[in-house]
Amino acid sequence: MEHAPAATARKNLSVCVLDDNANQVEIVTTHLEKSGFPAMGTTNPEEALQNVRLGACRVVVADLKMPGMDGLEFLEKALQHDPGVYVILASSLYSVDSAIAAIKRGAHDYVSKPVDSRRLEKTLDDIADLVSRRSEIRELEHKLFENHQFQGVVGKSPAMLDMLDLVKKVSRHYSNVLVTGPTGAGKELVARALHQLSPVARERFAVCNCSALVDTLLESQLFGHVRGAFTGAMDTRPGLFEFANGGAVFLDEIGETSLAMQAKLLRVIENREIQRVGSPEVRRVNIRLIAATNRDLRAEVLAGRFREDLFYRLSSIEIRVPGLSERREDIPLLVQHFLKKYSDAYSKPFQGLSRRAQIALLQHDWPGNVRELANVISSAAITASTDFIDVADLPESLQRSGRRAAPLVGEAWRPLPLDEVRRIHIQRVLEMCKGNRVRASQMLGIGRTSLYRFLKHANKQAAAGARGSD
Ligand SMILES: Nc1ncnc2c1ncn2[C@@H]1O[C@H](COP(=O)(O)OP(=O)(O)OP(=O)(O)O)[C@@H](O)[C@H]1O
Ligand SMILES: [Mg+2]
Repeated sequence: MEHAPAATARKNLSVCVLDDNANQVEIVTTHLEKSGFPAMGTTNPEEALQNVRLGACRVVVADLKMPGMDGLEFLEKALQHDPGVYVILASSLYSVDSAIAAIKRGAHDYVSKPVDSRRLEKTLDDIADLVSRRSEIRELEHKLFENHQFQGVVGKSPAMLDMLDLVKKVSRHYSNVLVTGPTGAGKELVARALHQLSPVARERFAVCNCSALVDTLLESQLFGHVRGAFTGAMDTRPGLFEFANGGAVFLDEIGETSLAMQAKLLRVIENREIQRVGSPEVRRVNIRLIAATNRDLRAEVLAGRFREDLFYRLSSIEIRVPGLSERREDIPLLVQHFLKKYSDAYSKPFQGLSRRAQIALLQHDWPGNVRELANVISSAAITASTDFIDVADLPESLQRSGRRAAPLVGEAWRPLPLDEVRRIHIQRVLEMCKGNRVRASQMLGIGRTSLYRFLKHANKQAAAGARGSD
């Protein structure tokens, strides 16, 4: 990597000198200008803060002892305005302890007064080098990023690349596909990519959320109806299968359909035949079906809630979208993707995230997967008042995510009976969902009724245990 020569690098690094002594300001700014740094000076901390806020300077050399606002207070405010600003504190009462304390609070460096101009130049050259390296890295990241998007699906982790490979392979040939994975992981996005890569990409892609409608409405939405088929059927309408004939229908949340609906869907898959509600006429459709679920359909089959024959027809090709915690290496790329998206949407040009914010995002468990990450970045982009997103802009749960519960495996591993592991795990997921059983059952990949049954059983056991110990 080649770096800009010192003179050019210096020209790009504007420095503001802040000191209550106007003489000092004059001496240091004159020297800096002679050395090739664009310099400005002031005795007023508010004016220096304004320069930071407006992005007029990259570096501030600030006096530690000033009447009104002292150097440390200035440092804190400056970092609030722009977490990317470099503040160098200068003091005549230099000590190693105070230097370390200042650096811990976010100062870039701490120098003694009178300021040794050579030492200051060296520090500024280092900063200039850092700044130009960072912008080169950003450019490289940008290029890499462009290579890590496939049909709108962002990812470079082995788990995602394997999945995308499978998408590419089956897209040309499939007639039914089952897309599985936890909530918010990107199942619909993957379904759209499948369609875009298929030979019928120019045809329609119709989406139906099977959990949002009661059976009768779902049937009429998918299959259509004739006038008078039911109360309220004022006219004859084709359903989504006819609407998207020649293209694809995406059946989201297929695990939520009733057994009766499953029988009707099986007929579409086996014979490519449909009947509008209220009509005896059988129509043929040429349709590709992509079904999605965040449930464990095998378990649903065993529990008698999902037809085994439909499951086998659907799952002959299964594409599993991995949860975000299984591919943490995608987090920075996704953050960049959403940051760009929301920068454009809110017309706020963001430079990036502070280190602390990046760490918080990497440590979080992301139970809501990519959708949760998108929401976090969107709301941070709204609240952030500078062009950097900092921890304060993240939800509280993420600010605290350094303290994670002890894992079931690893250092806290104990040879527990499976039932016990199950109990602890379910308890934890419930806590994570703040007691919301519907969300918890989705996250656990089990039916709501299974979760209720389990909880009832666990309560009974707890009560029996309490009686036994009386
Ligand atoms: N790999 C990715 N790259 C870019 N955006 C993504 C990616 N994965 C998911 N998203 C975005 O995250 C959001 C959630 O994705 P999507 O709706 O596809 O999830 P889902 O698995 O269908 O969720 P649910 O089970 O709740 O229906 C969407 O806005 C989607 O565009
Ligand atoms: Mg979805």
